[in-house]
Amino acid sequence: MSTGTMKKSHSQWSSRMGFMLAAAGSAVGLGNIWKFPYMAGQMGGSAFVLTYLLFMFIIGMPILVLEWLIGRRGQKNPIHTMEDVAVSEGHSKSWRWVGIIGVLGSFLILSFYSVIGGWATDYIVLAAKGTFEGVNGKTTALIFDNFKADVGSLLTWHTVFMFATAFIVALGVGAGLERGCKLMMPGLGILLLVLVGYAIYASGPAFYKACDFLFTPNWSALNGTAILAALGHAFFSLSLGMGIMMAYGSYLGKDVDLLSTARTVVILDVVVAVLSGIAIFPLVFANGLEPAAGPGLIFVTLPIAFGNMIGGTVLGILFFIFLTFAALTSSISLLEPTVELLEEKTHMGRKTATIVISILIWALGIACILSFNKWADVKFFDKNIFDSLDYLTSKIMLPITGLGTVIFGAYMMKQKRIQEELNLTNFWFKIWRVLTSIVIPIAIVAILVFGLQH
Ligand code: PFF
Repeated sequence: MSTGTMKKSHSQWSSRMGFMLAAAGSAVGLGNIWKFPYMAGQMGGSAFVLTYLLFMFIIGMPILVLEWLIGRRGQKNPIHTMEDVAVSEGHSKSWRWVGIIGVLGSFLILSFYSVIGGWATDYIVLAAKGTFEGVNGKTTALIFDNFKADVGSLLTWHTVFMFATAFIVALGVGAGLERGCKLMMPGLGILLLVLVGYAIYASGPAFYKACDFLFTPNWSALNGTAILAALGHAFFSLSLGMGIMMAYGSYLGKDVDLLSTARTVVILDVVVAVLSGIAIFPLVFANGLEPAAGPGLIFVTLPIAFGNMIGGTVLGILFFIFLTFAALTSSISLLEPTVELLEEKTHMGRKTATIVISILIWALGIACILSFNKWADVKFFDKNIFDSLDYLTSKIMLPITGLGTVIFGAYMMKQKRIQEELNLTNFWFKIWRVLTSIVIPIAIVAILVFGLQH
């Protein structure tokens, strides 16, 4: 990879592989293993799953490519990248708002992401203590409910997770993170396969019920809420609309093929999400659990598998370690843009900037923690603080930023150059044009408008 096109002041990808792993590390996270299965459970299964898959390819992938492309042109943090690229194309600096909303989104998301990362971390310890040995669905639900009510331990683990995130970001995300991803991501993949194997073996007919639930189209379950959620999740899952992929693109060399890299990242992301669903739902059905249980789903179902299989304690420990790591490779990417911004806008060094931002995010995370217990009744539009932050970011801010990005890419940038940069034949470029200039903007607007009315 040529380094001449890269920024000198930032850590740089050592290779295309390093970049791909970092992008996949950001994409694959709690969204795939924790959020996707519980959303599928709440939204009626297959209709949500299929819509999500479709959105990942026709909406998520082009926006991913555009974020990288714009980032590579701008070579700066998302706000200044948007400003510079807009000016160089002869447009207003106001396009920086796309970057601003994005950076704000990453800040808000990390506050609740860290709380859930803390759950995963605590479950490493619970697994190691043998808490799950011989458990059934009732016991794991009880363990989880008690945990959610215990402000002290939620706070401890949120603090540990946020500290780990801040620590790595303060050090810089170069070789350590790239190497870490290289080791841990395949490990997570192997463990997921083992869990899928266990689910098939142990749950008997419930396995078919789960596949039916996940994949047999049931369009009557598809309402506006599910479509909006599928779109929001496509963004969340690919780390789009938060300036993150734009920032990652700013460290990229000209010779990296954006389309094929994006395809690999999207496929990887989708495969991990679907495998997680296949590992979890057979256990849900076999143990008479509620598919629509919400955010606690994997913390209630997977311990049953670990508690009842040979070598389950070790596997459980390993699984939650990998889950924590998958969450960390994403949380680091969520912290990076705000830190980078503060560093550039003020005279703070990287370490001070990281500490300041992390403390703010940590404090907001406390409000999320309390929304599971003491502040459960504090509601905005009928949603507790955790759900409100999730709704505001996934369903409103991310799609708006995505819309801004795609409109900018399709109407504000010189198209000939994009075609050359993406190496597209005329045929594929026509498809690209139809998607980015018509299909994606209309889909996002329609879904946003519908979503805000419901
Ligand atoms: N894509 C990550 C996941 O699916 O867990 C979450 C995430 C990371 C969202 C980074 C947004 C982001 F910028």
